[in-house]
Amino acid sequence: MLAPTVKESRIMTSLEVTLSFVVTTFLSITLSLAHPGSGFGWGGGGGPFSFGLFPEFYQFSCPQANDIVMSVLEKAIAKEPRTAASLLRLHFHDCFVQGCDASVLLDNNAAVASEKNSLPNRNSIRGFEVIDEIKAKLEEACPQTVSCADILALAARGSTVISGGPNWELPLGRRDSRTASLTGSNNNIPPPNSTIQNLITLFKRGHTIGVARCVTFKQRLYNQNGNNRPDETLDKMYYSGLKSVCPRSGGDNNISPLDFGSPATFDNTYFKLILWGKGLLTSDEVLLTGNAAGKTRQLVKAYAEDEVAFFNQFAKSMVKMGNISPLTGFQGEVRKHCRRFN
Ligand code: HEM
Repeated sequence: MLAPTVKESRIMTSLEVTLSFVVTTFLSITLSLAHPGSGFGWGGGGGPFSFGLFPEFYQFSCPQANDIVMSVLEKAIAKEPRTAASLLRLHFHDCFVQGCDASVLLDNNAAVASEKNSLPNRNSIRGFEVIDEIKAKLEEACPQTVSCADILALAARGSTVISGGPNWELPLGRRDSRTASLTGSNNNIPPPNSTIQNLITLFKRGHTIGVARCVTFKQRLYNQNGNNRPDETLDKMYYSGLKSVCPRSGGDNNISPLDFGSPATFDNTYFKLILWGKGLLTSDEVLLTGNAAGKTRQLVKAYAEDEVAFFNQFAKSMVKMGNISPLTGFQGEVRKHCRRFN
């Protein structure tokens, strides 16, 4: 069912080891700072009622799960290519808040302040209707079996594959939370003007597809360093084009592709554009020019030259991200409807 097309490479290059280390460290630090004492870690998290994730989790209980996900995705992405990007991002925004537990899908209710209203998510995060459709089909085929958290992980992988990116063997068995964290969503998801550390920026390799709103890159065009001047690292032609999409005042919801070379194709053009001063967000740009950018600069160049290396690393990073503090075993529940707990 889940035939991997990305083979585990026998020898990890030192680059990949470093990257994995940095990503892991970043995620662990961020999460444990945000949730002291909550035992955030990798994998099932230990404890008497938790188990690890594994790719064959639905082999007997719902063998058609991935096929159902893919058939809904194929239609939705054919209708609107951006859906792929939105679903990839949804999994990221889920995993960075309380772990990959579908907390991002919960609507407001008496017990839940929805993460959909956090600063990074409001007017921005999308794809919920597609998740609802997948869930409805799965409930018909295998009632209360496939969790919404696993649907997010399957949808992120499927979207990547349909957009031309890598496939990977996806560990499954996550369960759904009965809580959400608006505060966590506000605090744990990095903002677009992160000038900072490699740690954060290193993990930003989802920006080969999708778009960003003017409000997320306006500062670069008009007042990057509080001096009413544009970001000097921006390519001049690119800068002029962006100004027409994103005026000094107003137009906040106008959108521009994160990778204008191939906005709907998952490839390594994003890295080439960064090399040419055409990365859209500050946090893309600093991968090349940031103060602490030694390692990331090498990576940008390596991935711009070698798409296979990028695909392999992306697949590994997605598995790692998908492994952030899942609820497993008897923890949480399998929601019947992804927007509310049972
Ligand atoms: C770690 C630092 C990151 C920062 C600062 C960041 C920032 C952003 C921002 C500001 C946007 C535009 C949002 C809007 O206009 O409303 C965006 C879009 C997007 N991000 Fe990230 N991101 C990061 C990491 C990631 C990761 C790890 C992934 C995937 C695994 C990802 C995938 C995407 C995608 C696919 C879009 C386009 C979504 C769409 O078109 O609907 N990002 N990101």
